[in-house]
Amino acid sequence: MRILVTGAAGFIGSAFVRRVLREHPADEVVAYDALTYAGNPANLDEVRGDPRFRFAQGDIADAATVDPLVAGCDAVVNFAAETHVDRSLLDPEAFARANVVGVMTLLQAARQHGKRLLQVSTDEVYGDVEPGHASVELDPLLPRSPYAAAKAGGELMCRAYHVSYDVDVVITRGCNTIGPRQYPEKLVPLFVTNALQDLPLPVYGDGRQERDWLFVDDHAAAIDLVLREGRSGEAYNVGAGAERPNLDVVRGILGRLGKPESLVVHVPDRPGHDRRYALSSAKIRQELGWSPARTFEQTLAETVDWYVANPGWWEAIRERDERFRDYYERQYGWRLATAGSGAGASGAAK
Ligand code: TYD
Repeated sequence: MRILVTGAAGFIGSAFVRRVLREHPADEVVAYDALTYAGNPANLDEVRGDPRFRFAQGDIADAATVDPLVAGCDAVVNFAAETHVDRSLLDPEAFARANVVGVMTLLQAARQHGKRLLQVSTDEVYGDVEPGHASVELDPLLPRSPYAAAKAGGELMCRAYHVSYDVDVVITRGCNTIGPRQYPEKLVPLFVTNALQDLPLPVYGDGRQERDWLFVDDHAAAIDLVLREGRSGEAYNVGAGAERPNLDVVRGILGRLGKPESLVVHVPDRPGHDRRYALSSAKIRQELGWSPARTFEQTLAETVDWYVANPGWWEAIRERDERFRDYYERQYGWRLATAGSGAGASGAAK
């Protein structure tokens, strides 16, 4: 099978590409990526010499480029997206373009050429989840951030193309994913790399928000399985069942690095911050036999250790890419100033 992987130079996309080439010797990968701030060609270095791998640069919303690529492949897996909640609060329009219009462009090509499309989505489409509940696939989609709303919009368009035009679509809704090569704007890679530089760790609000944490290769394995065996028109939750409050994750990072808890600074919260996400993954576990290979402790340790061992990867972004510094200043400049005394301040400034 020849697979078009869009968003292939990103964090989960590049892990998926490596997995396909490693696990399926007869498969080929056409990697496609716009190489915006989070798409990093270095993420594909390991596979660049593989004769079964080819790379094309472009935007998923560009029909003229997308169409012939879809025509030439057997299936499409879409990782291309704007993915960061905080950025979506600063610039919602970019999210509608990538996560809704981009998905529609892929759907149109999949329809034209009769190809399966796997849309990589997120547990955030369910919105804030009440304590005690774990979201199931038929729960209502109640997104609350521009990011989550745009992802839900993309998913609903997949559903519409399946129902209206019989396009073969499958959807995965993954939980928070960590591991090597994640752009250092999300909680774990940001905090690990901040801690390595003895910079403050800006915890939003009280830090008691809960997320479910999954290792990137376990997530890629689930997507691979749904691509090959998932039922058309269905969505599959992909959760580790490793719910932890943010502060526990932060303490785990500091413990692994041998850094002091005094680096933690409570800063003003993210507006509309979802307190809790939790997934039931019974469907993918029972129907397709997937389960994560790692515990939460292994997931966090393997992740932290990779950033320790690969400073060149993240220093290229943090030290030499102006776009990172601009974002960091915009997102954290005033927050850290509000929190007051820098590293060591512990009062929650809400
Ligand atoms: P994040 O990694 O942005 O993922 P998501 O918002 O998609 O779950 O954030 C994970 C959690 O960590 C979330 O509750 C917000 C919190 N967080 C902070 O407290 N400080 C930060 O600087 C960041 C980036 C996130």
